Amino acid sequence: MIIAIDGTLASGKGTIARRLAGWFGLAHMDTGRLYRATGVAALKNGTDFADSGALAALARSLDLSDFDETELRTGEAGQAASRVAALPEVRAALLELQRAFARQPGGAVLDGRDIGTVICPDADVKLWVDARTEIRAARRLKELQAAGETLSLEEMIADLKARDARDSARADAPMKRAPDAVLIDTSDLTIDDAVDMARRAVEGRLAQQDRGCL
Ligand code: DC
Repeated sequence: MIIAIDGTLASGKGTIARRLAGWFGLAHMDTGRLYRATGVAALKNGTDFADSGALAALARSLDLSDFDETELRTGEAGQAASRVAALPEVRAALLELQRAFARQPGGAVLDGRDIGTVICPDADVKLWVDARTEIRAARRLKELQAAGETLSLEEMIADLKARDARDSARADAPMKRAPDAVLIDTSDLTIDDAVDMARRAVEGRLAQQDRGCL
């Protein structure tokens, strides 16, 4: 079984993906880490962000064990990720890795922005996770402040809007809800309730498939 989870930044999709993977006994890939690692590698190497060939070469030679989680989660890493993610050459370099992960025996849960639309358009279940901008900004701000970054809520909201705009406006594999994705709006839910709703959505889809309705 392949579960494709897409959605906006700080919507809760990563936590939902991890917990669903645990519940259904599936492997999990956070595909945003691939773009974050490419962005961080480019910052470290001083690669020109206009040089899509060099950035794609970095993406192809990524070894995720070279990066620690803290450096991948900074605001700067997120911005760099969003910039490299807009480049078709970088996306092409990371495509097969993600598809091969999804094809592993037993299946997998992948979360990102284009899983249900581009990476796994035939996924058994697709979820689209979202929440109101102010709520997502407050969640992300808490994470960044815990990591020692100083930022106001207004700056965070502006940053988030800029990231969402770039991710959904790019020509190649824009962030977009697949027509057959189930919406999970986490704005007014605790994370446990959001995971519960997502699990019920997956089980509902699987039951429909079993009855031959899909
Ligand atoms: O989910 P995240 O914040 O870790 O993602 C980092 C950036 O990578 C984000 O700006 C969108 C981009 N991304 C993407 O374009 N496609 C994916 N499948 C995953 C992430």
